Amino acid sequence: MKKSIKYAWLIVLMLALVVSVVGCGGNDQTPAKDAAEKPKLVVAADATFAPFEFTETSTGKYIGFDVELMEAICNEVGYEMEFRSMGFDGLIAALQANQIDAVISAMTITDERKKAVDFSDPYYKSGLIVAVQASNNEITSFEDLKGKKLAVQSGTTGALQAEKITDKDKITYFTSSDQALLELKNGAVDAVVNDYPVSAYFIQQGNDEIKLVGEILSSEEYGIAVPKGETETLEKINAGLKAIKENGKYTEIYKKWFGEEPK
Ligand code: ARG
Repeated sequence: MKKSIKYAWLIVLMLALVVSVVGCGGNDQTPAKDAAEKPKLVVAADATFAPFEFTETSTGKYIGFDVELMEAICNEVGYEMEFRSMGFDGLIAALQANQIDAVISAMTITDERKKAVDFSDPYYKSGLIVAVQASNNEITSFEDLKGKKLAVQSGTTGALQAEKITDKDKITYFTSSDQALLELKNGAVDAVVNDYPVSAYFIQQGNDEIKLVGEILSSEEYGIAVPKGETETLEKINAGLKAIKENGKYTEIYKKWFGEEPK
């Protein structure tokens, strides 16, 4: 063999070696592998509560403030999020049975619920409001609801409030607050007690046969719930929430869904 051909072969061999070594090294760090190693967090909500969690009709996807917030938290702390929808009054039981890892469902932090689950730091300030038909000039506050026909979503703080004001047999319970608001729109009940931002959003969507009256009642705070004693998950969720509040992501998501700076 000629000397120059020998050298050419040597160079080809060396190149092949370099390529294979570099190739292997690169393979170890592909993002696909990292993603596969991320622990999965099964998150549930009652996705009928716009603008917090609902289904986009055109795609069938779950969207809303809570969905994006939880996605951002999971990204921040390295969880792969799997989102599910189930009835609001079954969420706490599902946590207790460890069928799901977390709930983000515009769920108000209450002492009663704290007996059954653990809550993250608060992530949204809310309150209850009365909705009536636009033509109704008789009901102007919570006090006026006594003896009136009310509609509420089962298992909510709105339902509890309604029960404090009027007899249970005057209350119709629905699995979603939209159904309760439609009942009001159709004139079958006198008022709906529900979370302010959700009833306000419903009206904004073109349901102007309905209006909100009186003051927003009691300040409520929403929290992310986890099964009791799941401290590691809870600490990660709190750390993620803190991080997205600091890096501007929380404000960005808040403004997108509520059109204003966070309260
Ligand atoms: N904030 C109220 C509560 O905790 C209502 C929440 C309803 N949420 C829902 N996704 N349907 O009781």
